[in-house]
Amino acid sequence: MATLPTGTVTFLFTDIEGSTQLLHQLSDRYANVLAQHHQLLRAALETYHGQEVDNQGDAFFAVFARAGDAVSAAVAAQRALAAHTWPEEGQVRVRIGLHTGEPTRTDSGYVGMDVHRGARIMAAGHGGQILLSHTTRDLVENNLPPGVALHTLGEHRLKDLQQPTPIFQLEIKDLPNDFPPLNTLSRRPHNLPVQLTSFIGRESAIQEVKHLLSSIRLLTLTGAGGCGKTRLSLQVGAEVLEDYDDGVWLVELAPVADPALIVQTVASTLGIREQGARPLLETLIDYLKPKTLLLLLDNCEHLLEGCAQLAHALLKSCPTLKILASSREGLGVAGEQTYRAPSLTRPDPKLVATLPLEQLTQYEAVRLFIDRAVLTSPHFSVTNQNAPAVAEICHRLDGIPLAIELAAARVKAMSVEQISTRLTDRFRLLTGGSRTALPRQQTLRALIDWSYDLLSDKEKLLLARLSVFAGGWTLEAAEKVCSDDAVIELKPEA
Ligand SMILES: Nc1ncnc2c1ncn2[C@@H]1O[C@H](COP(=O)(O)OP(=O)(O)OP(=O)(O)O)[C@@H](O)[C@H]1O
Ligand SMILES: [Mg+2]
Repeated sequence: MATLPTGTVTFLFTDIEGSTQLLHQLSDRYANVLAQHHQLLRAALETYHGQEVDNQGDAFFAVFARAGDAVSAAVAAQRALAAHTWPEEGQVRVRIGLHTGEPTRTDSGYVGMDVHRGARIMAAGHGGQILLSHTTRDLVENNLPPGVALHTLGEHRLKDLQQPTPIFQLEIKDLPNDFPPLNTLSRRPHNLPVQLTSFIGRESAIQEVKHLLSSIRLLTLTGAGGCGKTRLSLQVGAEVLEDYDDGVWLVELAPVADPALIVQTVASTLGIREQGARPLLETLIDYLKPKTLLLLLDNCEHLLEGCAQLAHALLKSCPTLKILASSREGLGVAGEQTYRAPSLTRPDPKLVATLPLEQLTQYEAVRLFIDRAVLTSPHFSVTNQNAPAVAEICHRLDGIPLAIELAAARVKAMSVEQISTRLTDRFRLLTGGSRTALPRQQTLRALIDWSYDLLSDKEKLLLARLSVFAGGWTLEAAEKVCSDDAVIELKPEA
């Protein structure tokens, strides 16, 4: 992959629409159909000087030094796919997305916002469609291949939760050019905030959460501070928006200190005002009763009791309302299901020496580290020399995204090897969070303090006693040091 172009490049992303269904329909003939698809795509890429960066299952990621070549390859691919004879019940329809940008070239491919952008543009399309970002459009509009025209599909917010962006479609003579509306965020009401950084990985967690939400009305994402609960719930919210006629609404409870203000915060998020002397909760329930809506109750851990009561009252009276909460612990309401947000996948540092760089950068924690390090220091890259230190950092920080972001922010001032050795004093090292982040997410210590301060005095004592164990404990051992009257409240004799 040493010959991949650098500088301003054009990405071409493809995948097969409905590939899972296709697999079911074709069963053992699928592999053969997939091979034919690969052959047609590779021929088109090769003819127009495209280079394959990655290929997973039915998806291709290719790069071009010239945007015009990327367009020609996309058109040639759609023509070849349309002309090919597929099995009767297994038509292969491919969506293609093109985007031009200046990503950072790493030893194993590319990183940066433009990579995610290109993939999201492709995902917004339908089988047979070719979508272009406006940067690609600007480069090719006066030099389109014969029989090809461009038209605008307007501004869209993609499911990466970034700013709205214009999207364009190529029209190819003699091929179908009418497609359903794009799979973007625009069609349902919501208040999902723009994210300034890219979302990494978590494909299976998103699938699991979506699956749970299809049958459960109160799902709480739990997990340690900074493990990515909020970000995961926003991403799930973006992906399921289509399923909720009345939209997805984020209620940010982190800044709410008083439980008495929870109802008001939810109501004002939804634009509901107090009506005379009527209790606001009643007005809120009346509003939500006929709605098919998903509420994201974010950061409930300091308001567990109040959130539990509200969730119970709303779900009881509003049959098509669902709640996706995020909290360092579950709300404890009947019918609630909790889902522990998993840590990001990370390599075992002992195996790093044996892993090729391409494989190392498939791990989510490593991808997040590189992505954020590049934001701070654009020339950062993972090499064979510093890979073990990057793996060590991801491992020592348990794949916790916030901690990894804080560590990556340090590459401006020191090498990854220096960061790795200084992690023994991680509270001192991990202090350089974004000024716009929540105060408790600006340093690792503040993150832990927020959780610690939510403990009762007895829980704090229990934690202090448990700290004598290094690397875990058994129930019996814990009972020996933690079961006296100071920790356990003796129940009054019956
Ligand atoms: N999959 C991801 N891809 C990219 N960034 C992520 C991902 N998950 C989390 N982050 C980033 O890590 C940081 C912490 O994530 P987040 O705020 O979602 O954690 P949290 O579990 O909600 O934390 P808290 O317990 O403090 O509420 C944020 O800056 C977020 O953008
Ligand atoms: Mg959160």
